[in-house]
Amino acid sequence: MEIKTISLKIEELKRKNNAILLVHNYQIPSIQDVADYLGDSLDLARRAASTDVENIVFCGVDFMAESAKILNPEKNVIIPDIDAKCPMAAMVDPNGLNKLKEKHPDAEVVSYINTTAEIKALSDICCTSANAVKVVKNLDSKQIIFVPDQNLGSYVKRFVTDKQIILWPGLCPTHHRIRKSQIINLKQKHPDAEVLVHPECRPEVIDVSDFVFSTNGMVNHAKESNASEFIIGTEKELCYRLKKENPEKEFYPVKSAICPNMKKITLEKVLNSLLTLEPKVILPDEIIKKAKKPLERMMNIGRGD
Ligand code: 13P
Ligand code: SF4
Repeated sequence: MEIKTISLKIEELKRKNNAILLVHNYQIPSIQDVADYLGDSLDLARRAASTDVENIVFCGVDFMAESAKILNPEKNVIIPDIDAKCPMAAMVDPNGLNKLKEKHPDAEVVSYINTTAEIKALSDICCTSANAVKVVKNLDSKQIIFVPDQNLGSYVKRFVTDKQIILWPGLCPTHHRIRKSQIINLKQKHPDAEVLVHPECRPEVIDVSDFVFSTNGMVNHAKESNASEFIIGTEKELCYRLKKENPEKEFYPVKSAICPNMKKITLEKVLNSLLTLEPKVILPDEIIKKAKKPLERMMNIGRGD
């Protein structure tokens, strides 16, 4: 079937099934084009919490769809491919986290939203790339366990010097693979471009950037900036949205920055999940109850970018 035909069917089924499509900024262009809301983790969590439709189809990875379910457990949350899993979210396990908590009984646990529901349930508060610094600054404790992204945690450390931040050795393979040399090469080719990078990047990549943002932070900055060229240090598909919303500006991706997990969702799978309303995100009630608190606590703090 052609993209246009599938997209029309998707629109029709959304209306028929009282469904919305929440789509992350890293999804393929044809899925971005049928989104009801396109956004970053924090924005999509907010949308999921506030919608009153019956069915939420989440085009992103597991932890994003799980967060939508935790925040709105009465609704059906459907993820078009149940195998679209963020590897970083799997890098911290409840056993290991509990051991670290025992070792540091006074520490508060901040878990990046890129974690499983079980890890959120063991946390004091969550954060996303849009508010990690603000969340950590807001805590009373002088000792913080930050899981699982060591790069995001190291970035937070730059701004929070009055607390001990204990890092977990997790990382995003897609962002960690972005090398300083790739950014330098792009800068040599496009000397007038501003360099925007995601805080999941290595510290030395952050050091050669002009700005560090969540994906929605990059979207907002690109709109407001007087610059007309941008080097984008995050998953390359964000450039589709950036160009669509700023056709007069140029965006240069790191071409190898691809998240294979995000790409497991296809337009055909989105159509199929609207036809079957499957596969649904299923989580134990007890986990939902415990994981909701740190997520809502974070949502009350809001964006920091
Ligand atoms: P954002 O919340 O900035 O969109 O990031 C999510 C993510 O998974 C980055 O790799
Ligand atoms: Fe996970 Fe990295 Fe993919 Fe984001 S880009 S979903 S952190 S693997």
